[in-house]
Amino acid sequence: MNSTYMPLYEALKRNIERDPLSFHVPGHKYGKVFEKQASETFQSILQLDATEVDGLDDLHAPEGVIWEAQKLASEFFQCDHTFFLINGTTVGNIAMILSVCLPGEEIIVQRNCHKSVLNALELSGASPVFISPRYEKETGRHSHVSAEDVERALKDYPDSKAVFLTYPDYFGRTYDLEKIAEVVHRSRIPLLVDEAHGVHFQLGSPFPKAALAAGADGVAQSAHKMAPAMTMASFLHVQGDRIDLNRIRHYLQMLQSSSPSYPLMASLDVARAYLAAWKPSEKEDLFSFLDQVKALFQSYNYWTVKTTDDPLKLTLEVLSGTGFEWAEALDAVGIVPELATTDQVLLVFGLAPSLDVQLLEDRLKTLDSQLKKQTNRATIIEDQIQFPAVQKLEFSYSLMQRMDVERVDWQEAAGYVAAEAIIPYPPGIPLVLKGERWDDQHIAQVRALSSQGARFQNTGMEQGVLVFKGE
Ligand SMILES: Cc1ncc(COP(=O)(O)O)c(C=O)c1O
Repeated sequence: MNSTYMPLYEALKRNIERDPLSFHVPGHKYGKVFEKQASETFQSILQLDATEVDGLDDLHAPEGVIWEAQKLASEFFQCDHTFFLINGTTVGNIAMILSVCLPGEEIIVQRNCHKSVLNALELSGASPVFISPRYEKETGRHSHVSAEDVERALKDYPDSKAVFLTYPDYFGRTYDLEKIAEVVHRSRIPLLVDEAHGVHFQLGSPFPKAALAAGADGVAQSAHKMAPAMTMASFLHVQGDRIDLNRIRHYLQMLQSSSPSYPLMASLDVARAYLAAWKPSEKEDLFSFLDQVKALFQSYNYWTVKTTDDPLKLTLEVLSGTGFEWAEALDAVGIVPELATTDQVLLVFGLAPSLDVQLLEDRLKTLDSQLKKQTNRATIIEDQIQFPAVQKLEFSYSLMQRMDVERVDWQEAAGYVAAEAIIPYPPGIPLVLKGERWDDQHIAQVRALSSQGARFQNTGMEQGVLVFKGE
């Protein structure tokens, strides 16, 4: 099929061009019934916001334009099957885990994973074996997963049904996934990868190796994060026969809406065509833009500018104050970063120059002139905590479901087993797992993060954290 062809998007355009007299949902009737004040802004998108009328296929039983659009995507990503997701990589991660794990079955999972992975483990009732990536001085984070650690976990837990990893991390850091895939496949089980931040790796060098090319069996990618797709639009790719496609289908139809958004699905079709037309060798303008922006940030001595494996990510390692404070200061002059940690600020680029470098320079100058005094450099760095290399939870999820919980002051939580994960946000990666015993390191870490302005996803941290009663 022609890679510039966008079957789903084009069908939606044809649908609106025939001026349909809508006697069907949605209630906005292609934008004709809408709040006046918002109508103009929403209008173009409402034209695409159709439902499963004739010619527009059905996400849950595709055989027309959605089937074609997914097929084009699987051809581009060189896998056997691509599913369009309208609830982000979140739903892809959950469907992958549910499809490989029955209650009580073991699965090896990278500890610093997105909360959707933890939710999936809980939903499946699996018995997770957590492995912690090694701390890397270079990144200041636990970012290196080694084949040796995966091999060791597989040796200790030979009945594991799959290995689930996150690749790359939020900051674009990668590791040798190919070697890990070999190790995992020796055990005849699937390697599942949350590649939320790596959809563009399919474009080849200078981007790192894509998870599918490295041999992963199931891969979820947030097309909306690094490719030009709408928020919540993601892909789930499957290759080989280690994953049962019918189980994936079963869980996706269970977990995703029966009224999937056509603008979201069409944006996946369009993003795939955009990626297919994108050639690294023809992108001098992007790479020179990246160099200019990098040089601009480097001209200030408030931070050290660090690049990672992914050229579309830039990290400012701040030399005074905290990353949170710097993110706020940048935001105040109209420069909006992706996220901050205690000592880093992450900047994320798109696949084309997307801003005026002169305007950026002006805003950085404004910030520079406003800066009068700075606080001291953070003394505790978020990722200095020592996570166990291989770890299991204190109780099974099914037991936890029946146990009584109580709230205790988080400063007094050492020794209790957490009844909720403690998740600094962003990036939504847990510091304490549900079912893990709180210790002094966790408390010190929460204290450091809170004092430096981190936010937590937990409700009512100030009223205490949930722990299991008497445990
Ligand atoms: C590593 C990782 N996995 C999964 C997700 C969830 O992806 P989505 O927002 O597409 O549901 C995120 C979101 O930030 C993430 O950072």
